[in-house]
Amino acid sequence: MRYVVTGAAGFIGSHLCARLLADGHEVVGIDNLITGQQLNLDVLRARSSFQFVEQDICSPPAALVPVDGPVDVVFNFACPASPIDFEPKALDILNVCSAGVLNTLSLAREKGAVFVQASTSECYGDPEEHPQRETYWGHVNPIGPRSPYDEGKRFAEALVMAHHRSLGIQTRIGRIFNTYGPRMRLGDGRVLPNFIQQALEDTPLTVFGDGSQTRSFCYVDDLVDGFVRLSRCDEVTPINIGNDVEITIGQLAQEIIELTGSASRIEYRPLPQDDPKLRRPDITKARAVLDWEPKTDRTTGLKSTIEYFRTVLTTRHQCRPA
Ligand SMILES: NC(=O)c1ccc[n+]([C@@H]2O[C@H](COP(=O)([O-])OP(=O)(O)OC[C@H]3O[C@@H](n4cnc5c(N)ncnc54)[C@H](O)[C@@H]3O)[C@@H](O)[C@H]2O)c1
Repeated sequence: MRYVVTGAAGFIGSHLCARLLADGHEVVGIDNLITGQQLNLDVLRARSSFQFVEQDICSPPAALVPVDGPVDVVFNFACPASPIDFEPKALDILNVCSAGVLNTLSLAREKGAVFVQASTSECYGDPEEHPQRETYWGHVNPIGPRSPYDEGKRFAEALVMAHHRSLGIQTRIGRIFNTYGPRMRLGDGRVLPNFIQQALEDTPLTVFGDGSQTRSFCYVDDLVDGFVRLSRCDEVTPINIGNDVEITIGQLAQEIIELTGSASRIEYRPLPQDDPKLRRPDITKARAVLDWEPKTDRTTGLKSTIEYFRTVLTTRHQCRPA
């Protein structure tokens, strides 16, 4: 089969491309490198069945993303996803969640391909229902600092559903909960790369709030497997894809200190505005519809992620001018 993956140079997109190539498929990866890394493409470029197109999926406005030949599935993973980007890249995020999704849907329509949207647990905002089921409509501040991402992704879901209902496009929506693993970007502000870098450098781990807020972390290989299954099922309405084992941020910091053997201590800072206090997916629907559930336990996943960052940091220190 022939796949298009937007956001191919990103953390999850590059793992998805690698999985599809390993399964024997052809992949066209598209990315404008706004938050993606060349390093993530190096592992893909070695394969003759991989083609990379450096392109902003928002431009030219409302035109097709250029891809020659037949396409079976379009995975839309392009979008900055780190909270530190929500304010400085607010307009880019709103643009990619609107014009970018529209252009990518047009590509799927033109090719008669299945369209799969990478959505997010941020659609639930700071949830008043716990754990979060797909039927929950969310609790989002529409004008707060997180709104470009949260509302952008909600609008993207509306666009996808409207294209299915009005134009008959075969669409799928996966709502991703916090995902981690090798190839995350150092310094991208997300909690896991932050904690691991701080622990490996023996500097204090910064916990926002009192550390009692919870998250549920899914290893990237599990998440990618969920999306591959999603592309092959015929469920149109959103499905949560995440790990339902919940942990407090304080506990996570402690685990990372132990796994890295770090001398770091924990430092507390004020909780940012609208930060969700609880986050855990209800994955009953994914279990039933996709016959999927996460397989990687947190210690195994954290160890492989720590090894990745250890190598990246060692290379970075070796490359620094004396
Ligand atoms: N990682 C998570 O925990 C998580 C959670 C929920 C949802 N998601 C979603 O999954 C997708 C991938 O997230 P990620 O963690 O890999 O982030 P990432 O920043 O590593 O990857 C996003 C990629 O999209 C590219 N991109 C952004 N705007 C683009 C544009 N206009 N044109 C072309 N390429 C563009 C970036 O350069 C980057 O390579 C995103 O849509 C994100 O919203 C991720």
